[in-house]
Amino acid sequence: MIILSPSILASDFTILGEQMRQAEAGGNDYFHFDVMDGMFVPNISFGIPVLISVRKFTHKTLDVHLMVEAPERYIDKFIDAGADIITVHQEACKPLRDTVDHIHERGKRAGIAIKPGTDIDVLDEYFGLADMFLIMTVEPGFGGQKYMDVCTGKIRNLRERLAGKGLDTDIQVDGGITRENVETVLSAGANVIVMGSSIFKGNITDNTKYFSELFKKYD
Ligand code: DX5
Ligand code: ZN
Repeated sequence: MIILSPSILASDFTILGEQMRQAEAGGNDYFHFDVMDGMFVPNISFGIPVLISVRKFTHKTLDVHLMVEAPERYIDKFIDAGADIITVHQEACKPLRDTVDHIHERGKRAGIAIKPGTDIDVLDEYFGLADMFLIMTVEPGFGGQKYMDVCTGKIRNLRERLAGKGLDTDIQVDGGITRENVETVLSAGANVIVMGSSIFKGNITDNTKYFSELFKKYD
């Protein structure tokens, strides 16, 4: 199944709830929640209080992307606030194995993200452990950036490596995904598609409907 996860970072926070409803009317599967700490990435977004409100507002899966230094410090707080999936960066989380185990002990799904410059080799030891691998297709920190074509090969290599081990682990892509390049990442093997600008700029329901209809062709 191809999953559509709109990134609310791109929404208008003065009408966040209304815009989430508009995405739901178009048929999204998840909401992507980009947490930025100004340390791991040169930007600050939002955190626990916003997640608590978003959790009360939607039944959709909340896919929390922690672009945070030492994210292991916050796993319980984000789970208590309503996260269904927590994705941490391999580059930021020293006790990565323990952190993945802890997310599982709390009954949630664990994702591991890598930046464009990080090789997929670092993910090998988490095959069969992580529920999702996030291949960043832009440098993390900001929405509205351009897709980095060099990442297409990473997605394909990771999908081939997983298949070689008999695994169909989710591969999430995140950053600069548009109507023009989404089929490139789908063909390369991504199956969880994050989009911020492509959903929240323009008619949100139409944008979401466009992608959810397209994804049905790949199921
Ligand atoms: C960037 C974030 C992405 C970003 C996606 O650091 O992780 O989720 O918000 O936004 P677009 O789709 O506009 O690139
Ligand atoms: Zn993200």
